[in-house]
Amino acid sequence: MNRNLYSIIGEEGFTRLVAAFYRRVPQDDILGKMYPEEDPAGAEQRLRGFLIYRFGGPQHYIEERGHPRLRARHMALP
Ligand code: HEM
Repeated sequence: MNRNLYSIIGEEGFTRLVAAFYRRVPQDDILGKMYPEEDPAGAEQRLRGFLIYRFGGPQHYIEERGHPRLRARHMALP
């Protein structure tokens, strides 16, 4: 895993990557039902922020969300 990916693709690269993923979510049979319809932009922002923090970029995600607690935060999903 390249912990410094941020220095290569930057904010813009992560933004494009996560946007490309979320463009496909609503029409996906499985994922479409799982993501919050009322806050798709928020979900996109949280994943983008997490990836940026995890891959060597600014720590805004941690400042806003605290520890990721990813297992707990996915626990409610089917
Ligand atoms: C089958 C695999 C997965 C599914 C279906 C899934 C689905 C979801 C859903 C529905 C949410 C709530 C969206 C929201 O933030 O409102 C979420 C949140 C999130 N997921 Fe996943 N996820 C998966 C795997 C992963 C993996 C592997 C990672 C990281 C490597 C990840 C990172 C995150 C993060 C960072 C959040 C936001 C946590 C927060 O701050 O609240 N997810 N995921």
